[in-house]
Amino acid sequence: MMKWWQKAVFYQIYPRSFSDGNGDGIGDFQGMISKLDYLDDLGVDAIWLSPHYPSPLRDCGYDISDYCSVAPEYGTLDDFYEFLDGLHKRGMYLILDLVLNHTSDQHPWFIESRSSRDNPKRDWYIWHAGENGMPPNNWFSTFGGSAWEFDPQTKEYYYHFFFKEQPDLNWRNSQVREAIWDVARFWLDLGVDGFRLDAVGTIYEDSLLSDQHAGINLDDLYVLERNSKIPQEHTRVVELWEEIFKYQHDQPGMHELMRELREVINEYPDRVLVGETDDLSYYGNGSDELHMVFNFPLMRTRRLSADWVRTNQSERLERIPKGGWACNTLGNHDSARMMSEYGDGIHDECIVRVNLAILLTLKGTPFLFNGEEIGMTNAVLTNPDEFRDPLSLRTYEMEMRLFNCPGDEAASCASGNGRDKTRSPMQWKNAPNGGFCPQGIKPWLPVNQDYQQGVNVETQLANDSSLWHYYKNLLSIRRENPALVEGEYQPMMEDDQDILVFRRISTVQNCLVICNTCSENRIIKIPHFKHPPRIVYSSLGREGTIGGDLRLKPFEVLIMEEVNI
Ligand code: GLC
Repeated sequence: MMKWWQKAVFYQIYPRSFSDGNGDGIGDFQGMISKLDYLDDLGVDAIWLSPHYPSPLRDCGYDISDYCSVAPEYGTLDDFYEFLDGLHKRGMYLILDLVLNHTSDQHPWFIESRSSRDNPKRDWYIWHAGENGMPPNNWFSTFGGSAWEFDPQTKEYYYHFFFKEQPDLNWRNSQVREAIWDVARFWLDLGVDGFRLDAVGTIYEDSLLSDQHAGINLDDLYVLERNSKIPQEHTRVVELWEEIFKYQHDQPGMHELMRELREVINEYPDRVLVGETDDLSYYGNGSDELHMVFNFPLMRTRRLSADWVRTNQSERLERIPKGGWACNTLGNHDSARMMSEYGDGIHDECIVRVNLAILLTLKGTPFLFNGEEIGMTNAVLTNPDEFRDPLSLRTYEMEMRLFNCPGDEAASCASGNGRDKTRSPMQWKNAPNGGFCPQGIKPWLPVNQDYQQGVNVETQLANDSSLWHYYKNLLSIRRENPALVEGEYQPMMEDDQDILVFRRISTVQNCLVICNTCSENRIIKIPHFKHPPRIVYSSLGREGTIGGDLRLKPFEVLIMEEVNI
Protein backbone atom coordinates (compact mmCIF):
# COMPACT_ATOMS: atom_id res chain seq x y z
CA MET A 1 0.00 0.00 0.00
CA MET A 2 1.38 3.37 -1.03
CA LYS A 3 1.56 6.00 1.69
CA TRP A 4 -0.05 9.41 1.19
CA TRP A 5 3.32 11.17 1.12
CA GLN A 6 4.55 8.86 -1.63
CA LYS A 7 1.62 9.82 -3.82
CA ALA A 8 1.55 13.50 -2.85
CA VAL A 9 2.94 16.54 -4.58
CA PHE A 10 4.15 18.97 -1.91
CA TYR A 11 4.00 22.75 -2.20
CA GLN A 12 6.24 24.86 0.01
CA ILE A 13 4.68 27.99 1.48
CA TYR A 14 6.95 30.73 2.72
CA PRO A 15 4.42 32.25 5.14
CA ARG A 16 5.79 35.77 5.27
CA SER A 17 5.36 36.14 1.53
CA PHE A 18 2.36 34.04 0.62
CA SER A 19 -0.79 35.98 1.41
CA ASP A 20 -1.41 38.97 3.64
CA GLY A 21 -4.80 38.63 5.32
CA ASN A 22 -4.77 41.75 7.52
CA GLY A 23 -3.12 44.21 5.17
CA ASP A 24 0.04 44.92 7.16
CA GLY A 25 2.46 43.94 4.39
CA ILE A 26 3.31 40.56 5.99
CA GLY A 27 1.84 37.20 5.02
CA ASP A 28 -0.18 35.45 7.72
CA PHE A 29 -2.47 32.53 8.54
CA GLN A 30 -5.69 34.32 7.62
CA GLY A 31 -4.09 35.03 4.27
CA MET A 32 -3.18 31.36 3.85
CA ILE A 33 -6.68 30.34 4.92
CA SER A 34 -8.12 32.55 2.20
CA LYS A 35 -6.00 30.63 -0.33
CA LEU A 36 -7.04 27.12 0.68
CA ASP A 37 -9.34 26.78 -2.31
CA TYR A 38 -6.59 28.14 -4.53
CA LEU A 39 -4.24 25.38 -3.38
CA ASP A 40 -6.92 22.76 -3.80
CA ASP A 41 -7.77 24.02 -7.26
CA LEU A 42 -4.12 23.99 -8.34
CA GLY A 43 -4.07 20.35 -7.31
CA VAL A 44 -1.26 20.06 -4.80
CA ASP A 45 -1.70 17.46 -2.09
CA ALA A 46 0.43 18.63 0.81
CA ILE A 47 1.98 21.79 2.17
CA TRP A 48 5.41 22.25 3.66
CA LEU A 49 5.19 25.40 5.74
CA SER A 50 8.46 27.25 6.35
CA PRO A 51 8.81 28.34 10.01
CA HIS A 52 5.72 30.00 11.42
CA TYR A 53 7.04 30.27 14.99
CA PRO A 54 7.87 33.44 16.95
CA SER A 55 11.29 34.62 15.89
CA PRO A 56 13.47 37.74 16.11
CA LEU A 57 13.96 37.16 12.36
CA ARG A 58 17.71 37.21 12.34
CA ASP A 59 17.49 34.35 9.81
CA CYS A 60 13.98 34.99 8.47
CA GLY A 61 12.27 32.67 10.95
CA TYR A 62 14.90 29.91 11.08
CA ASP A 63 15.86 31.36 14.47
CA ILE A 64 13.02 30.26 16.70
CA SER A 65 12.29 31.79 20.10
CA ASP A 66 9.26 29.64 20.92
CA TYR A 67 8.67 26.25 19.29
CA CYS A 68 5.11 25.79 20.48
CA SER A 69 3.50 28.95 19.30
CA VAL A 70 2.76 31.10 16.27
CA ALA A 71 4.57 34.32 15.34
CA PRO A 72 2.17 37.11 16.42
CA GLU A 73 2.41 38.76 13.00
CA TYR A 74 1.15 35.50 11.45
CA GLY A 75 -1.78 35.06 13.85
CA THR A 76 -2.62 32.74 16.73
CA LEU A 77 -2.65 29.03 17.39
CA ASP A 78 -6.37 29.13 16.60
CA ASP A 79 -5.56 30.57 13.17
CA PHE A 80 -2.97 27.85 12.71
CA TYR A 81 -5.54 25.25 13.58
CA GLU A 82 -8.08 26.74 11.22
CA PHE A 83 -5.51 26.48 8.42
CA LEU A 84 -4.64 22.89 9.29
CA ASP A 85 -8.27 21.94 9.54
CA GLY A 86 -9.03 23.68 6.24
CA LEU A 87 -6.31 21.65 4.55
CA HIS A 88 -7.47 18.39 6.07
CA LYS A 89 -11.09 19.06 5.10
CA ARG A 90 -9.94 19.44 1.51
CA GLY A 91 -7.93 16.20 1.69
CA MET A 92 -4.58 17.97 1.88
CA TYR A 93 -1.77 17.44 4.39
CA LEU A 94 0.56 19.75 6.31
CA ILE A 95 4.16 19.31 7.36
CA LEU A 96 6.04 21.88 9.44
CA ASP A 97 9.63 23.01 9.45
CA LEU A 98 11.41 21.62 12.48
CA VAL A 99 14.65 23.40 13.24
CA LEU A 100 16.70 21.01 15.33
CA ASN A 101 20.24 22.30 15.20
CA HIS A 102 19.78 25.66 16.88
CA THR A 103 17.36 28.02 18.56
CA SER A 104 17.29 31.80 18.53
CA ASP A 105 19.53 33.47 21.10
CA GLN A 106 16.24 34.94 22.38
CA HIS A 107 14.79 31.51 23.15
CA PRO A 108 14.19 31.22 26.93
CA TRP A 109 16.38 28.09 26.94
CA PHE A 110 19.36 30.07 25.70
CA ILE A 111 18.62 33.08 27.89
CA GLU A 112 18.74 30.72 30.87
CA SER A 113 21.75 28.88 29.56
CA ARG A 114 23.82 32.01 29.13
CA SER A 115 22.75 33.48 32.48
CA SER A 116 25.40 31.63 34.52
CA ARG A 117 27.85 28.78 34.23
CA ASP A 118 25.92 26.70 36.72
CA ASN A 119 22.47 27.27 35.31
CA PRO A 120 20.68 23.92 34.88
CA LYS A 121 20.31 24.67 31.16
CA ARG A 122 23.98 25.61 30.71
CA ASP A 123 24.69 22.27 29.06
CA TRP A 124 21.74 22.60 26.66
CA TYR A 125 24.07 24.58 24.39
CA ILE A 126 27.72 24.11 23.49
CA TRP A 127 29.87 26.18 25.82
CA HIS A 128 33.66 26.20 26.05
CA ALA A 129 36.16 28.22 28.07
CA GLY A 130 38.53 28.50 25.10
CA GLU A 131 42.29 28.57 25.45
CA ASN A 132 44.51 31.54 26.20
CA GLY A 133 41.77 33.99 25.43
CA MET A 134 41.04 32.29 22.10
CA PRO A 135 38.12 30.14 20.93
CA PRO A 136 38.63 26.39 21.40
CA ASN A 137 39.38 25.83 17.70
CA ASN A 138 39.49 27.45 14.28
CA TRP A 139 36.00 26.54 13.10
CA PHE A 140 34.00 28.99 11.04
CA SER A 141 30.31 29.75 10.99
CA THR A 142 28.94 28.89 7.57
CA PHE A 143 27.38 32.37 7.54
CA GLY A 144 30.74 34.06 8.19
CA GLY A 145 33.22 34.69 10.99
CA SER A 146 34.20 32.36 13.81
CA ALA A 147 31.78 29.65 14.89
CA TRP A 148 32.46 30.66 18.50
CA GLU A 149 31.00 33.71 20.17
CA PHE A 150 32.44 35.01 23.40
CA ASP A 151 29.87 35.72 26.08
CA PRO A 152 31.29 38.50 28.29
CA GLN A 153 28.96 37.79 31.18
CA THR A 154 30.05 34.20 31.84
CA LYS A 155 33.39 34.50 30.03
CA GLU A 156 32.94 31.44 27.85
CA TYR A 157 32.36 30.84 24.16
CA TYR A 158 29.25 29.28 22.66
CA TYR A 159 29.13 27.50 19.33
CA HIS A 160 26.96 28.49 16.36
CA PHE A 161 27.11 26.90 12.92
CA PHE A 162 24.87 29.64 11.48
CA PHE A 163 24.57 33.24 12.75
CA LYS A 164 25.71 34.03 16.28
CA GLU A 165 22.03 34.70 17.05
CA GLN A 166 21.44 30.97 16.32
CA PRO A 167 23.30 29.10 19.07
CA ASP A 168 23.59 25.35 18.48
CA LEU A 169 21.73 23.07 20.85
CA ASN A 170 23.80 20.40 22.55
CA TRP A 171 22.17 17.24 21.24
CA ARG A 172 24.40 15.07 23.41
CA ASN A 173 22.30 16.26 26.35
CA SER A 174 19.32 13.92 26.75
CA GLN A 175 17.14 16.72 28.17
CA VAL A 176 17.53 18.62 24.90
CA ARG A 177 16.45 15.57 22.96
CA GLU A 178 13.41 15.08 25.15
CA ALA A 179 12.49 18.78 24.97
CA ILE A 180 12.57 18.79 21.16
CA TRP A 181 10.75 15.48 20.89
CA ASP A 182 8.05 17.07 23.05
CA VAL A 183 7.91 19.95 20.59
CA ALA A 184 7.36 17.43 17.81
CA ARG A 185 4.63 15.74 19.85
CA PHE A 186 2.97 19.08 20.53
CA TRP A 187 2.40 19.62 16.80
CA LEU A 188 1.68 15.99 16.02
CA ASP A 189 -0.98 16.02 18.74
CA LEU A 190 -2.55 19.01 17.00
CA GLY A 191 -2.72 16.86 13.88
CA VAL A 192 0.18 17.94 11.67
CA ASP A 193 1.31 15.25 9.26
CA GLY A 194 5.06 15.44 9.67
CA PHE A 195 8.15 17.58 9.47
CA ARG A 196 10.79 18.87 7.14
CA LEU A 197 13.97 18.70 9.21
CA ASP A 198 16.04 21.82 8.81
CA ALA A 199 19.81 21.58 8.27
CA VAL A 200 19.73 18.10 9.67
CA GLY A 201 23.40 17.32 8.99
CA THR A 202 24.64 20.11 11.24
CA ILE A 203 23.28 18.74 14.50
CA TYR A 204 26.49 17.21 15.83
CA GLU A 205 30.05 18.44 15.78
CA ASP A 206 33.26 16.51 16.26
CA SER A 207 33.39 15.79 19.99
CA LEU A 208 37.18 16.35 20.11
CA LEU A 209 36.71 19.80 18.59
CA SER A 210 39.61 19.09 16.22
CA ASP A 211 41.00 22.01 14.25
CA GLN A 212 40.27 22.01 10.53
CA HIS A 213 43.23 22.21 8.17
CA ALA A 214 41.69 23.48 4.95
CA GLY A 215 44.27 26.26 4.86
CA ILE A 216 41.87 28.89 3.57
CA ASN A 217 39.54 31.36 5.24
CA LEU A 218 35.99 32.26 4.19
CA ASP A 219 36.99 35.57 2.59
CA ASP A 220 39.53 33.84 0.37
CA LEU A 221 37.04 31.10 -0.41
CA TYR A 222 34.55 33.75 -1.49
CA VAL A 223 37.13 35.34 -3.78
CA LEU A 224 37.99 31.95 -5.24
CA GLU A 225 34.35 31.17 -5.82
CA ARG A 226 33.69 34.54 -7.41
CA ASN A 227 36.63 34.02 -9.79
CA SER A 228 35.75 30.42 -10.66
CA LYS A 229 34.87 30.02 -14.30
CA ILE A 230 35.32 26.40 -15.29
CA PRO A 231 33.63 23.41 -13.62
CA GLN A 232 36.93 22.21 -12.11
CA GLU A 233 37.28 25.51 -10.29
CA HIS A 234 33.76 25.25 -8.92
CA THR A 235 34.47 21.70 -7.81
CA ARG A 236 37.58 22.90 -6.00
CA VAL A 237 35.51 25.51 -4.12
CA VAL A 238 33.07 22.81 -3.02
CA GLU A 239 35.96 20.57 -1.91
CA LEU A 240 37.48 23.37 0.11
CA TRP A 241 34.12 24.12 1.72
CA GLU A 242 33.87 20.45 2.69
CA GLU A 243 37.36 20.55 4.12
CA ILE A 244 36.70 23.69 6.16
CA PHE A 245 33.48 22.32 7.66
CA LYS A 246 34.35 18.65 7.83
CA TYR A 247 34.19 18.49 11.63
CA GLN A 248 30.94 20.39 11.82
CA HIS A 249 28.46 18.27 9.92
CA ASP A 250 27.32 14.69 9.41
CA GLN A 251 29.17 13.49 12.50
CA PRO A 252 28.73 10.14 14.25
CA GLY A 253 25.63 9.97 16.38
CA MET A 254 23.30 11.34 13.73
CA HIS A 255 21.87 8.00 12.77
CA GLU A 256 21.09 6.97 16.35
CA LEU A 257 19.41 10.33 16.77
CA MET A 258 17.33 9.95 13.61
CA ARG A 259 16.26 6.51 14.79
CA GLU A 260 15.15 8.05 18.07
CA LEU A 261 13.13 10.69 16.24
CA ARG A 262 11.61 8.05 13.97
CA GLU A 263 10.41 6.24 17.09
CA VAL A 264 8.70 9.44 18.24
CA ILE A 265 7.03 9.84 14.85
CA ASN A 266 5.98 6.21 14.92
CA GLU A 267 3.90 6.96 18.02
CA TYR A 268 1.51 8.57 15.51
CA PRO A 269 0.02 6.84 12.49
CA ASP A 270 1.12 7.77 9.00
CA ARG A 271 3.36 10.77 9.63
CA VAL A 272 6.40 11.70 7.55
CA LEU A 273 9.93 13.04 7.99
CA VAL A 274 11.85 14.65 5.14
CA GLY A 275 15.39 15.82 5.76
CA GLU A 276 17.09 18.88 4.37
CA THR A 277 20.03 16.81 3.23
CA ASP A 278 20.90 14.85 0.13
CA ASP A 279 22.89 12.27 2.08
CA LEU A 280 21.30 8.90 1.39
CA SER A 281 22.59 7.45 4.65
CA TYR A 282 19.76 9.32 6.39
CA TYR A 283 17.35 6.73 5.01
CA GLY A 284 18.94 4.32 7.50
CA ASN A 285 17.89 0.80 6.66
CA GLY A 286 14.95 2.17 4.68
CA SER A 287 12.47 2.16 7.50
CA ASP A 288 14.21 3.33 10.65
CA GLU A 289 15.40 6.90 9.95
CA LEU A 290 13.98 9.48 7.52
CA HIS A 291 11.23 8.65 5.06
CA MET A 292 12.74 10.95 2.44
CA VAL A 293 15.77 13.12 1.79
CA PHE A 294 15.92 15.68 -1.00
CA ASN A 295 17.61 14.92 -4.28
CA PHE A 296 19.45 18.25 -4.28
CA PRO A 297 22.10 17.06 -6.77
CA LEU A 298 19.39 17.09 -9.47
CA MET A 299 19.07 20.85 -9.16
CA ARG A 300 22.78 21.66 -9.03
CA THR A 301 23.04 22.61 -12.68
CA ARG A 302 21.98 25.49 -14.90
CA ARG A 303 20.47 23.06 -17.40
CA LEU A 304 18.47 19.89 -16.82
CA SER A 305 19.73 18.12 -19.92
CA ALA A 306 18.68 14.54 -20.58
CA ASP A 307 22.17 13.44 -19.78
CA TRP A 308 22.22 15.26 -16.46
CA VAL A 309 18.88 13.83 -15.34
CA ARG A 310 19.77 10.25 -16.32
CA THR A 311 23.13 10.39 -14.59
CA ASN A 312 21.50 11.79 -11.49
CA GLN A 313 18.85 9.06 -11.45
CA SER A 314 21.31 6.27 -12.03
CA GLU A 315 23.59 7.56 -9.27
CA ARG A 316 20.80 7.84 -6.72
CA LEU A 317 17.80 5.61 -7.24
CA GLU A 318 19.56 2.30 -6.81
CA ARG A 319 21.26 3.46 -3.66
CA ILE A 320 18.04 4.30 -1.83
CA PRO A 321 17.47 1.38 0.54
CA LYS A 322 14.33 -0.66 0.14
CA GLY A 323 11.54 1.11 2.02
CA GLY A 324 13.07 4.56 1.42
CA TRP A 325 11.42 6.84 -1.10
CA ALA A 326 12.94 9.36 -3.52
CA CYS A 327 12.13 13.06 -3.32
CA ASN A 328 12.85 15.63 -6.01
CA THR A 329 12.75 19.40 -6.10
CA LEU A 330 13.96 22.23 -8.31
CA GLY A 331 13.58 25.20 -6.00
CA ASN A 332 13.02 26.39 -2.46
CA HIS A 333 13.43 29.50 -0.29
CA ASP A 334 17.23 29.13 -0.27
CA SER A 335 17.77 28.66 -4.01
CA ALA A 336 17.21 30.85 -7.05
CA ARG A 337 13.81 30.96 -8.74
CA MET A 338 13.44 28.14 -11.27
CA MET A 339 12.59 30.56 -14.06
CA SER A 340 15.79 32.54 -13.50
CA GLU A 341 18.09 29.65 -12.68
CA TYR A 342 17.33 27.37 -15.59
CA GLY A 343 16.20 29.93 -18.16
CA ASP A 344 18.53 30.76 -21.05
CA GLY A 345 17.09 34.25 -21.51
CA ILE A 346 15.28 33.22 -24.69
CA HIS A 347 13.23 30.15 -23.93
CA ASP A 348 12.78 30.56 -20.19
CA GLU A 349 9.17 29.49 -19.95
CA CYS A 350 9.61 26.55 -22.35
CA ILE A 351 12.51 25.34 -20.24
CA VAL A 352 10.55 25.70 -17.02
CA ARG A 353 7.73 23.69 -18.58
CA VAL A 354 10.03 20.81 -19.55
CA ASN A 355 11.67 20.92 -16.15
CA LEU A 356 8.32 20.65 -14.43
CA ALA A 357 7.36 17.71 -16.62
CA ILE A 358 10.60 16.01 -15.60
CA LEU A 359 10.04 16.78 -11.92
CA LEU A 360 6.50 15.42 -11.96
CA THR A 361 7.25 12.25 -13.90
CA LEU A 362 10.49 11.09 -12.29
CA LYS A 363 10.26 8.55 -9.53
CA GLY A 364 9.80 10.19 -6.13
CA THR A 365 7.73 12.78 -4.33
CA PRO A 366 7.99 16.24 -5.92
CA PHE A 367 8.30 19.44 -3.89
CA LEU A 368 7.22 22.72 -5.53
CA PHE A 369 7.87 26.22 -4.20
CA ASN A 370 5.16 28.89 -4.00
CA GLY A 371 5.15 31.23 -6.98
CA GLU A 372 6.76 28.68 -9.27
CA GLU A 373 3.37 27.98 -10.80
CA ILE A 374 3.17 31.50 -12.25
CA GLY A 375 6.84 31.60 -13.23
CA MET A 376 8.01 34.08 -10.62
CA THR A 377 11.55 35.22 -11.34
CA ASN A 378 14.38 36.33 -9.06
CA ALA A 379 13.45 39.72 -7.60
CA VAL A 380 16.17 42.30 -8.06
CA LEU A 381 16.72 44.44 -4.99
CA THR A 382 18.76 47.54 -5.70
CA ASN A 383 18.64 49.18 -2.30
CA PRO A 384 20.55 47.43 0.51
CA ASP A 385 18.11 48.96 3.03
CA GLU A 386 15.51 46.64 1.54
CA PHE A 387 17.54 43.47 2.08
CA ARG A 388 16.01 41.22 4.72
CA ASP A 389 18.30 38.22 4.34
CA PRO A 390 21.51 38.88 6.26
CA LEU A 391 23.33 36.83 3.62
CA SER A 392 22.47 39.54 1.09
CA LEU A 393 23.99 42.12 3.39
CA ARG A 394 27.02 39.93 3.92
CA THR A 395 27.65 39.66 0.18
CA TYR A 396 27.16 43.41 -0.15
CA GLU A 397 29.78 44.05 2.49
CA MET A 398 32.22 41.48 1.05
CA GLU A 399 31.91 42.81 -2.47
CA MET A 400 32.89 46.26 -1.34
CA ARG A 401 35.64 45.09 1.02
CA LEU A 402 37.20 42.35 -1.07
CA PHE A 403 36.66 43.65 -4.60
CA ASN A 404 36.44 47.40 -4.02
CA CYS A 405 33.11 47.21 -5.77
CA PRO A 406 31.09 50.43 -6.01
CA GLY A 407 27.93 50.36 -3.87
CA ASP A 408 25.44 49.84 -6.70
CA GLU A 409 27.42 46.96 -8.19
CA ALA A 410 27.85 45.41 -4.76
CA ALA A 411 24.09 45.69 -4.20
CA SER A 412 23.29 44.04 -7.49
CA CYS A 413 25.70 41.20 -6.75
CA ALA A 414 24.24 40.83 -3.26
CA SER A 415 20.74 40.76 -4.65
CA GLY A 416 21.76 37.90 -6.92
CA ASN A 417 23.63 35.99 -4.24
CA GLY A 418 21.31 36.49 -1.28
CA ARG A 419 18.04 34.67 -0.73
CA ASP A 420 15.64 37.62 -0.74
CA LYS A 421 15.33 37.22 -4.50
CA THR A 422 13.30 34.03 -4.07
CA ARG A 423 11.33 35.15 -1.06
CA SER A 424 9.58 38.20 -2.53
CA PRO A 425 5.80 38.31 -2.03
CA MET A 426 3.49 36.14 -4.07
CA GLN A 427 1.98 37.99 -7.02
CA TRP A 428 -1.77 37.49 -6.93
CA LYS A 429 -2.97 40.03 -9.46
CA ASN A 430 -2.08 42.94 -11.68
CA ALA A 431 -2.75 45.48 -8.96
CA PRO A 432 -0.59 47.59 -6.65
CA ASN A 433 1.84 45.39 -4.70
CA GLY A 434 0.88 42.54 -7.01
CA GLY A 435 -2.28 42.18 -4.93
CA PHE A 436 -0.21 40.82 -2.04
CA CYS A 437 -1.08 43.72 0.24
CA PRO A 438 -3.14 46.88 -0.18
CA GLN A 439 -1.96 49.91 -2.10
CA GLY A 440 0.03 52.27 0.09
CA ILE A 441 1.26 49.51 2.41
CA LYS A 442 4.93 48.61 2.25
CA PRO A 443 5.35 44.86 1.91
CA TRP A 444 8.09 43.35 4.09
CA LEU A 445 10.13 42.68 0.93
CA PRO A 446 9.59 44.55 -2.33
CA VAL A 447 7.20 42.91 -4.77
CA ASN A 448 8.75 41.91 -8.09
CA GLN A 449 7.34 44.35 -10.63
CA ASP A 450 6.91 41.70 -13.31
CA TYR A 451 3.41 41.10 -11.91
CA GLN A 452 2.52 43.81 -14.45
CA GLN A 453 3.75 41.62 -17.30
CA GLY A 454 1.47 38.70 -16.62
CA VAL A 455 3.41 37.11 -13.78
CA ASN A 456 0.44 37.02 -11.45
CA VAL A 457 -2.22 34.48 -10.55
CA GLU A 458 -5.32 36.33 -11.70
CA THR A 459 -4.04 36.99 -15.22
CA GLN A 460 -2.84 33.42 -15.61
CA LEU A 461 -6.06 31.90 -14.30
CA ALA A 462 -7.90 33.71 -17.06
CA ASN A 463 -5.61 32.30 -19.75
CA ASP A 464 -5.92 28.58 -20.48
CA SER A 465 -2.48 28.37 -22.00
CA SER A 466 -0.68 30.03 -19.07
CA LEU A 467 2.03 28.40 -16.99
CA TRP A 468 -0.45 28.16 -14.10
CA HIS A 469 -2.79 26.01 -16.19
CA TYR A 470 0.18 23.94 -17.34
CA TYR A 471 1.03 23.22 -13.70
CA LYS A 472 -2.57 22.33 -12.90
CA ASN A 473 -2.85 20.14 -15.96
CA LEU A 474 0.35 18.20 -15.32
CA LEU A 475 -0.54 17.76 -11.66
CA SER A 476 -3.77 16.11 -12.68
CA ILE A 477 -2.03 13.95 -15.31
CA ARG A 478 0.26 12.72 -12.55
CA ARG A 479 -2.68 11.93 -10.28
CA GLU A 480 -4.56 10.08 -13.01
CA ASN A 481 -1.67 7.87 -14.12
CA PRO A 482 -0.58 5.59 -11.30
CA ALA A 483 2.62 4.55 -13.07
CA LEU A 484 3.88 8.13 -12.76
CA VAL A 485 3.59 7.81 -9.01
CA GLU A 486 4.44 4.24 -8.18
CA GLY A 487 6.19 2.94 -11.28
CA GLU A 488 9.83 1.89 -11.35
CA TYR A 489 12.08 4.14 -13.42
CA GLN A 490 13.65 2.62 -16.51
CA PRO A 491 15.82 4.86 -18.72
CA MET A 492 15.75 4.44 -22.50
CA MET A 493 17.78 5.87 -25.38
CA GLU A 494 20.58 6.45 -22.96
CA ASP A 495 23.01 7.91 -25.48
CA ASP A 496 20.96 10.94 -26.29
CA GLN A 497 22.25 14.09 -24.59
CA ASP A 498 19.09 16.09 -25.09
CA ILE A 499 16.10 13.83 -25.42
CA LEU A 500 15.11 12.31 -22.12
CA VAL A 501 13.18 9.09 -22.56
CA PHE A 502 12.19 6.80 -19.74
CA ARG A 503 9.51 4.37 -18.72
CA ARG A 504 7.67 4.15 -15.45
CA ILE A 505 6.68 0.56 -14.88
CA SER A 506 4.10 -0.53 -12.34
CA THR A 507 1.81 -3.47 -11.86
CA VAL A 508 -1.22 -1.49 -12.98
CA GLN A 509 0.15 0.67 -15.77
CA ASN A 510 3.29 1.51 -17.74
CA CYS A 511 4.07 5.00 -18.90
CA LEU A 512 6.57 6.31 -21.41
CA VAL A 513 7.87 9.85 -20.98
CA ILE A 514 9.67 11.80 -23.70
CA CYS A 515 11.09 15.28 -23.07
CA ASN A 516 13.06 17.26 -25.59
CA THR A 517 15.27 19.37 -23.31
CA CYS A 518 16.80 21.38 -26.16
CA SER A 519 15.72 24.23 -28.40
CA GLU A 520 15.97 22.24 -31.63
CA ASN A 521 13.73 19.99 -33.67
CA ARG A 522 14.82 16.38 -33.27
CA ILE A 523 13.81 13.09 -34.81
CA ILE A 524 13.94 10.01 -32.65
CA LYS A 525 13.12 6.41 -33.34
CA ILE A 526 10.54 5.07 -30.96
CA PRO A 527 11.47 1.53 -29.93
CA HIS A 528 9.08 -1.18 -30.89
CA PHE A 529 6.24 -1.78 -28.47
CA LYS A 530 3.79 -4.61 -29.02
CA HIS A 531 1.00 -2.06 -28.71
CA PRO A 532 1.94 1.50 -29.64
CA PRO A 533 1.84 3.85 -26.67
CA ARG A 534 -1.20 6.09 -26.37
CA ILE A 535 -0.68 9.75 -25.62
CA VAL A 536 -2.03 10.90 -22.25
CA TYR A 537 -0.35 14.28 -22.36
CA SER A 538 1.22 16.24 -25.17
CA SER A 539 2.54 19.76 -24.83
CA LEU A 540 1.57 20.28 -28.48
CA GLY A 541 -1.88 18.81 -28.29
CA ARG A 542 -0.96 15.63 -30.19
CA GLU A 543 -3.42 12.78 -29.86
CA GLY A 544 -3.54 9.08 -30.54
CA THR A 545 -0.61 6.70 -30.54
CA ILE A 546 3.03 6.99 -31.53
CA GLY A 547 5.59 4.69 -33.13
CA GLY A 548 8.43 4.69 -35.66
CA ASP A 549 10.09 8.03 -36.38
CA LEU A 550 8.93 10.79 -34.11
CA ARG A 551 9.65 14.41 -35.00
CA LEU A 552 9.98 16.32 -31.77
CA LYS A 553 9.62 20.07 -31.60
CA PRO A 554 11.89 22.13 -29.31
CA PHE A 555 11.12 21.49 -25.64
CA GLU A 556 8.29 19.14 -26.50
CA VAL A 557 6.87 16.91 -23.78
CA LEU A 558 4.97 13.68 -24.37
CA ILE A 559 3.61 11.36 -21.71
CA MET A 560 2.20 8.08 -22.94
CA GLU A 561 0.53 5.05 -21.56
CA GLU A 562 1.45 1.62 -22.85
CA VAL A 563 -1.93 0.04 -23.31
CA ASN A 564 -2.74 -3.69 -23.18
CA ILE A 565 0.31 -4.67 -21.23
C1 GLC B 1 18.32 25.77 6.40
C2 GLC B 1 17.25 26.72 5.92
C3 GLC B 1 17.86 28.08 5.74
C4 GLC B 1 18.42 28.54 7.06
C5 GLC B 1 19.38 27.51 7.66
C6 GLC B 1 19.64 27.78 9.11
O1 GLC B 1 19.29 25.57 5.46
O2 GLC B 1 16.67 26.23 4.76
O3 GLC B 1 16.94 29.00 5.24
O4 GLC B 1 19.09 29.76 6.91
O5 GLC B 1 18.84 26.22 7.61
O6 GLC B 1 18.50 27.52 9.88
